[in-house]
Amino acid sequence: MHYEPIVRRIGILLLASTVASSSACKQDGELDCRADGVDCTLAEAAVQAGVLVGTAYNEFRDDPEYIPALINDFNSVTHEGAMKWAATQPERGVFDFERADRMMELAESNGMSVRGHTLVWEQASLDATPDYVLDITDPEELRALMADHIRTVVGRYRGRIDAWDVVNEPLETAGSEIYENHFYQVLGPGYIAEAFALAREADPNATLFLNEVLVSSAGARFDALFELTKDLLEQGVPVHGVGFQGHFLTKPPIYDELRANLERIAALGVVVELTEVDIILHGTGDEATRLERQRQDYFDMASACLAVEACERMTLWGFTDRYTWIDSFFGAGFAPLPLDDDYARKPAYFGLRDGLLNGSGSNKTTAPTR
Ligand code: G3I
Repeated sequence: MHYEPIVRRIGILLLASTVASSSACKQDGELDCRADGVDCTLAEAAVQAGVLVGTAYNEFRDDPEYIPALINDFNSVTHEGAMKWAATQPERGVFDFERADRMMELAESNGMSVRGHTLVWEQASLDATPDYVLDITDPEELRALMADHIRTVVGRYRGRIDAWDVVNEPLETAGSEIYENHFYQVLGPGYIAEAFALAREADPNATLFLNEVLVSSAGARFDALFELTKDLLEQGVPVHGVGFQGHFLTKPPIYDELRANLERIAALGVVVELTEVDIILHGTGDEATRLERQRQDYFDMASACLAVEACERMTLWGFTDRYTWIDSFFGAGFAPLPLDDDYARKPAYFGLRDGLLNGSGSNKTTAPTR
């Protein structure tokens, strides 16, 4: 079990209440988000629930509303791109931490936790790993480069980043096989264990995650992630957590399935997190109907996490529909986040907040009704 860093962080947040202060939420110094008329932020609701609520961050420096809105509602942050290999080591041997450092300053000056994303990730269609890495075919050369990369990046933020996605998307994006990515092909299936051992050595206190997409539903794909995690743990690999990305693009979160999957992985003795949540407008009907459906979906997602003791954080992949990767990949109109284009709270915001509050305390295991 490896709960300490995050639990410690929650303690700090409770004590300091530095994030998202809203006097309406405080009574005699205590947060009481369930009281009538109290209008808590997401961060305040999360503190009350005993979890972290995070968002992906990106640079929108010309938008004066972006940072204040982020700080208001979140107590954890993940850079959407600046900690990926292509950003931190764009040329072989040349590291660039300018963007990542800027986010660290933002996080630290606002008492926020940080998830580091990500150390080893190769997807043919995406740009996360530079070509000079993909060109290496000699195992010892790639092994040495991967070691240097992980030691340098994790070492730089040692003690400051509480969780790292060490290996991202070890499964094929479609299907349920292990993805034979470049690292697998050159180093063999042991590349995952090697990466975790390196990260462990570089920051012994960071919680180290496997992070995977499309595993919130029951089925062969989830089973493959379960078996992989189990196998790594049996080998003694220091996997401390499993991240369920939670891009709900093809189907909405199903409370029972998501909760069961989180529980099954947690039973292996690791923490679990929702790491990249966005839930597009699902279903049919007019806009109001679809927004209401999205409210329920956010409620179910948050409630499922809160129902599982080892689910300690949910990170959204952005927070305002003004900025979402989904627009640039799939076109506009999916509106997957809890604030709208103008930073106004959508029904999804209230669903998420209600899920955080409903899912804690005595209602912790109550399934939400539709
Ligand atoms: O940096 C260039 C910029 O110079 C240029 O002006 C711009 C023009 O489109 O493109 C910029 O790069 C894009 C970058 O996002 C901007 O942040 C890349 O082309 C684009 O591929 C990149 O996409 C990111 C993608 O990961 C690949 O790294 C998305 O923003 C990011 O949301 C997405 O996140 C992934 C997670 O890391 C892993 N799980 C899935 C998730 C969604 O795909």
